[in-house]
Amino acid sequence: MADKNWKNYSLETQAIRAGHNRTAEDEHSLPIFATSSYVFKNAEEAALRFTGQKAGNIYSRFTNPTVNAFQERLALMEGGERCLAFSSGMAAIMAVGMGLLKTGDHVVCSRGVFGNTVLMFQNYFGKFGVETEFVDLIDVKAWEAAIKPNTRFLFLETPSNPLIEIADIELLATIAHKHDCLLIVDNCFCTPVLQKPFSMGADIVIHSATKYIDGQGRCVGGAVIASNEIIEKSIYPYLRTGGATMSPFNAWVFLSGLETLSIRMKAHCDSAFELARWLETRPQVAKVHYPGLPLHPQHELAKRQQTHFGGIVSFELKGGKEEAWNLIDSTEMISITANLGDVKTTITHPATTTHGRLSPEVRALAGIKDGLVRISVGLEAIDDIKHDLARGCSEVRNVN
Ligand SMILES: Cc1ncc(COP(=O)(O)O)c(C=O)c1O
Repeated sequence: MADKNWKNYSLETQAIRAGHNRTAEDEHSLPIFATSSYVFKNAEEAALRFTGQKAGNIYSRFTNPTVNAFQERLALMEGGERCLAFSSGMAAIMAVGMGLLKTGDHVVCSRGVFGNTVLMFQNYFGKFGVETEFVDLIDVKAWEAAIKPNTRFLFLETPSNPLIEIADIELLATIAHKHDCLLIVDNCFCTPVLQKPFSMGADIVIHSATKYIDGQGRCVGGAVIASNEIIEKSIYPYLRTGGATMSPFNAWVFLSGLETLSIRMKAHCDSAFELARWLETRPQVAKVHYPGLPLHPQHELAKRQQTHFGGIVSFELKGGKEEAWNLIDSTEMISITANLGDVKTTITHPATTTHGRLSPEVRALAGIKDGLVRISVGLEAIDDIKHDLARGCSEVRNVN
C-alpha cells in the first residue's frame, strides 16, 4: 500500500486511500501517532536523522506519521509536489511570509482576503519592513501596476471572502511570472474538488483546513502546498524552528474530512446555488453575490475555472447593520458563527465579525457594506434553510 503510485488515481480515490503507510499491526484505519518523539537505534543514527542524512522521524514538531499522511494526501489532491501542515490557516500564511520575505520586500495582496490576512500583512510583516499594497481582486491592470522590482509574491483568495468575486488565476500567474514573482492562492473556499490552482500556474496554495477539509467544525488547522524546492528551502526550516505544528489528532480528523470532501462539496454547491436563486426573489434583498448566477460579473470565468460554483452565498439587504442583525437574530436553526465550510449552515455579519477589525475606510474599499450577510450553506434540507431565512427576511423592516 505504501508504494502505490496514487498520482495515477482520481482525486476521490486519493482522498480515501493515499498517505496511509500501513504499520506492522496491519490496521485498516489510519492510526493516530500520539508521540512527541521517536527512538533511535544508537547515537549515530540519531545524529544522521538530525542532519537529514538518514530519513526517519525525529520529533513531532516537524515529523509525525499521522501529520505526514495528511500532508501526502492533500499534496496529491491539489496536484502539488509537497505539503506542510500547520496549526491553523493563519499559521500557514504566517509561514509563507516568514519563509519567503525579508526586510525591504514588497507584496501585492488582494483587498478581498480574510480580515486577519490583511492584518498579518499590514501590521506584522509591515512591522518588519515589508510593504504590502492592496489591490482590487478583479482589476488585472491594478495587479500589474502595483508590482515593483522588490515584489516577492502576489497573494489572493478566489472566490473572495465575503463578496465571492473571482480572480483569473491563469492570467495573474502569467503576470506574476513575467515580473519574477510567485503567485499564492488561498484555496480555502473551493478546495481541490472545485479548483486546482497549480494547473493554472499558481506557485503556492494555502489552506485553512478548519473549513471544508474538516467539514464538521471540529478542529483548527492549515496547510501550505508548493514545489519541493520552495518547501525545502523556505517553509520547512521555518516550521521546524517556529513550531506552529498541526497536532496528530487534528491531522487524523482532517484525513477523514478529506475522505468525504468531494461528495460534500458537490452537495454544498447544489444547495448554495438553489439558495442564491431563492434569495434573488426576496423583496428585502438588494443584491446576491454568487458566481453561479448569470448576472455575477465573473460568471463565465467561474464556469471555466471551477468545477462547481461553491458553497458560500452572500447578499446585501436593503438597509444597513440593523436590518442585517435583525435577520441574523431571527433565524432559529442556522448557527450564528463566523466559521464556514461546515455541514451546519452558518450565518455571519462580515462588517462586525470577520472584517470588524479593519478600519471603516479599508472595509469600504473592500466593498463590505453594513447590510452584507454571508451564509455558508450546510447540508441540512435546503427547504429548512430557506424556511429559517424566510422568517429572518420577514423581520427585516426596510424593504423600500
Ligand atoms: C479564506 C480564509 N483563509 C484563511 C483563514 C484562516 O484560517 P484559520 O482560521 O484556520 O486560521 C480563514 C478563516 O476564516 C479564511 O476564511
